[in-house]
Amino acid sequence: MKGFFISLEGIEGTGKSTQTRLLTEYLQQGGRAVVRTAEPGGTAISLKIRELLLSLDSREMDPVTELLLYNAARVQHICEVIRPALAREEIVISDRFSDSTLAYQGYGRGIDHKMIDALDTIATKGMRPDLTILLDIDVETGLQRNREINKRDRLELEDVAFHEKVRAGFLEMAAQEPERIRIIDCSAGLETVHQKIKDVVSTFLDQQGV
Ligand code: TMP
Repeated sequence: MKGFFISLEGIEGTGKSTQTRLLTEYLQQGGRAVVRTAEPGGTAISLKIRELLLSLDSREMDPVTELLLYNAARVQHICEVIRPALAREEIVISDRFSDSTLAYQGYGRGIDHKMIDALDTIATKGMRPDLTILLDIDVETGLQRNREINKRDRLELEDVAFHEKVRAGFLEMAAQEPERIRIIDCSAGLETVHQKIKDVVSTFLDQQGV
């Protein structure tokens, strides 16, 4: 048995956090040791960086500062949470990982992808999820869902065009790496989406002989 790293990705309003929780509970009920975590976050230091990143007071933040801070939070997250859990041969399920950086800071903000890749190599030392679930929804529906739950942070205040670029980025990344990144349409209800995620993850774990 070895550890497995699964990430969930997507634009705003896909129900990603709820699906991360439901998937964790499902795997735990099946007797697996699972660590549920999220980016930016997962450690005390990363959560402080998250506050800085998402605060409405950070409107002046330069895109490169933003890029560096997401990477800084990730380094801490990997060394305090992800690597130790994988070393214990547990399953790590993270609500976002470095695909979000390429999607938001790369495709969304327009920062050069080579620069993002270079920083990613420094931050992750090449660590990639074994499996990534990309929850896809159209931008208007996603943003509307977030408005309904009153979720407002600095990135959610970006215009629709920004979120369209992020979504297109995620879809392009999935097309480039179809083995790792599996797209799940999440316009259906919570239960239907959960069922689809369970199917993909169970098949994946079976293939790995876990
Ligand atoms: P959350 O709303 O899923 O908790 O994520 C926080 C926000 O941070 C979300 O708008 C996406 C954004 N984000 C980036 O822009 N780059 C990143 O690398 C990560 C992890 C998140």
